[in-house]
This record gives sequence, C-alpha cells and structure tokens, in this order.
Amino acid sequence: MTSPFPADFLWGAATSAYQTEGALHVDGRGPSVWDSFATRPGAIEGGGDAAIATDSYRRWRDDVELIGDLGLRAYRFSTAWSRVVPDGRGTINAGALDHYERFVDALLEKGVEPVLTLNHWDMPDALMDEGGWLGRGSVDAFAHYATAVAERLGDRVPWWITQCEPWIVQLLGYQLGIHAPGLADLPSSVRAGHHILLAHGVAYDAMRSLTAGRIGAGPNLLPCVPASDSEEDRLAAIGSDGYVNRWYLDPLFLGTYPDDMREHWERVAGPLDFIRDGDLAQIGGRMDFLGLNFYTRRVMKAAEPGPNRPFPWQVVRAPEESRLTDEGTEIVPGALTELLVRLKTEYPEVPILVTENGLVSNETPEHDGRVHDVRRIRFLRAHVEAMAQALAQGVNLVGYLHWSLLDNFEWALGYRPRFGLVYVDYPTQTRIPKDSAHHYAALIAANGDLAAVTEEVGEAAEADASGVFG
Ligand code: FCB
Repeated sequence: MTSPFPADFLWGAATSAYQTEGALHVDGRGPSVWDSFATRPGAIEGGGDAAIATDSYRRWRDDVELIGDLGLRAYRFSTAWSRVVPDGRGTINAGALDHYERFVDALLEKGVEPVLTLNHWDMPDALMDEGGWLGRGSVDAFAHYATAVAERLGDRVPWWITQCEPWIVQLLGYQLGIHAPGLADLPSSVRAGHHILLAHGVAYDAMRSLTAGRIGAGPNLLPCVPASDSEEDRLAAIGSDGYVNRWYLDPLFLGTYPDDMREHWERVAGPLDFIRDGDLAQIGGRMDFLGLNFYTRRVMKAAEPGPNRPFPWQVVRAPEESRLTDEGTEIVPGALTELLVRLKTEYPEVPILVTENGLVSNETPEHDGRVHDVRRIRFLRAHVEAMAQALAQGVNLVGYLHWSLLDNFEWALGYRPRFGLVYVDYPTQTRIPKDSAHHYAALIAANGDLAAVTEEVGEAAEADASGVFG
C-alpha cells in the first residue's frame, strides 16, 4: 500500500485555551473579554460558561496521554493571553508560562509537535479600557505578550500562529456583537480587523529572533461560489470573496488591501483613516507558513443592501442535494482541494498547515458505552481524500489538524455542538474516544492511506480497543 502523503505529514488535532482549560481564577489568571461577555444574559446558549469546560488546565496530563495514544504527530493549543498577561500590559505571570512549558515538554517527550496559537480570542479584559482591538495600543500589548511566550518557549515550539481567524473576531466580535467583546458597529469592526493584522506583523518581528520555529497567521477561508450562472451572482461571489478571504490574504501575503473591498468598506463604513502609512508594509510578507482553517464554502447571490446587509450580496442555502452537519453547515471536501490549489496559484508559496477542519456531529454514548460517530469518520476520510488530491496537484501541504481533540465549549453556542474526536461527559469529565478517534488513529498509522483503512475500522478497533488505546 502506498500513501500519497509525505512521511513527515503532521497529522494532529486542535483545541484552544478558553474552550478547554477552565480554571478561570487559578494561578493568577486575569479576566478575558470572554469572561465578561459570558456573563451577559443570553450571550451563551444554555446559559453555560467556560468555568470548567473540559477542565484541561488541571487534566492536561490526561490530554497528553490521549494525544499520545491516538498517535497524533502534532497538537495545536493556545496559550491563554489573560493568563500570561493578567492586566493586559504589565507583569508577565511566570506561573502561567511554567504551566505551558510543562505542557509543551510533555508533548515533545511523546514525539508530538506543538502548534501554539497566541490569540485564540481571549484578550485580557483590561485592554477593553481603550476598546480592545479598536485601540491601536492593542498592537503593542499583543507584541508584549507574544514576546514573553516566545522568550520562554521559542527554543522548543516549531509552529506559531499569531492570530486565529481575524475575520471571525471582526465579524462576530465587533460587527455583530455575538462573540466577545460584544460590540456591534460596522466601522469599528473594520478598524479592529486592521489592528489584528497589524498585531500579527509587529509580533512577528518581535518574535523573529526568539525562535527558529515557523510563524504564521491562521485565517479561516471560505470559498465563495455563485448561486447561479448570472453575472450578478458571479459578482456577488467575487465581492464576498473580498470580504471574507482576500481582505486578510492580500495584506498578509502581498502587503496590500484589495481595491474592490477597500471601495466597499469606504462606502459603508467611512474613511479607513486608521490604516496609517507603513502599516501594510509592516503586515505583509511575514508568513513562514499559512495556518488554514477550513470548514465549508459560501453560496452567494446578488441582493439589495439593507439594514442588516451592508453589501450587495447575500449567502443562500446550500443546494438541496448537499450534505449538512447537525448544525446545518454544508460539507464540501472538494472545495478544500480547490482552495488549496487556488492559494498555490494566487499567493506566494509557503507551507500550508490545515489548522482546523471538523464538524458538529452530536452522537452520544450508546448501550455499549461507545460513540458511533460514523458521519465524522466519513467527513474525515473525505477531507483526507481532498488533501491527497491537492498534494497530487503540487500543493505544499504539510499537515492536518482536526477540530477538535475533545468536545468543548463552543463559544456562544455553549456545550451543545460536539466537535470532538473524543466525547466528553461534562458532569464527570470522562473522556471516551469516539469511533472517529479510533479510525483517525488507524489512518495516521497508515499515513493517510485510505485504502489501507476501511470505513468500519473505528468499530472494529472498539471491539479490541487495546490495539489503539492499550
Ligand atoms: C472556529 C474556531 C474554533 C471553533 C471552531 C468550531 O471558528 O476557531 O475555536 O469554535 O470554529
């Protein structure tokens, strides 16, 4: 049997601090914007919060065991910004860095490459005194934090992601107010997005001499396709692509903002006077690798702008024949292949690491105590196939990190959606590897050779769990 994947392909999984750690008041952690936001009535579905989450700050050794048992070659996690810099600007909490150092060392001992995200959305709440990312001072505050983490861990972490999904923070946090910090103001959102990108560039320079690891950013990209053959819908797809994808890729890779989207923003959000001379030169060309978060695509049609629709386009429902997740998200593995090939064609070539890809699939343990999440197995296999096709077209793809290792706190949606390869029984914090975890372990052992691992392998492995989790 032969695998289309390079021998050193980084098969792994991802989580983030706020979604898993809990222990919000332990060892000097300061409050983050999500702590405050979660106290707003109605902010979190089901009224939950991240006070315990998957209790991973305390149970980190169990998590490392699980990662090792699955045979993961890489693990993505984030350091909690407000643990490391509790008041946002001043003293570095050395105890927090001790914790992450122990964690990283334990991963390395298992032969697992740590992929460290610096900002997975848990900005210290103290920085809200100047509006969080609205204030330009947020850029230096982020560089201060990034420097502290790189000084401590720069000698041993090979992969660094400065910013996770700038568009989501801009959109959900500052434009729609459904994520922290809960601001809903279109012009502000564009300003926030710019400072997030600028913080990537400034932090990159601050960290560069502190680590031999690769430093990149992790945007979520959504291929945008027209709903019909009409010229209007074609333009809607191009417009949406500017809003979601090019507004981030162009500055990060090319040091420019796309003209079409600049014009759209100026029309609906006013002058972009917060973009100062030199900013784009400071952002551009600082991507040693691309962290790519891919979940789905957007099907676009032309539409009149309206009160809740700033641009002349809108997302329409996925075509009837589409496969959807439990959360109604369209499953389109082929779009990943196309996206990877497009990145290779349109942007400077850097290694691409898929830093998130996964689905909500809410199976719970059955009578046999196991979780038969066959849809996750199929999803995984389809995306492995999509990556194999991209590799065959010469894409420099170096790894795949499934979202997520564990079911966890899914932001405003609370604990309802389950993204994990491993089921978490929240009241007892018992972890149960789902069928998909067994299947993924077998696929990793075969280095992604789909023919070597049949679809039923998850269940077969369950019958003899000792083979994988012994
Ligand atoms: C991404 C986030 C991650 C998780 C997944 C489902 O947008 O980066 O934290 O919520 O979606």
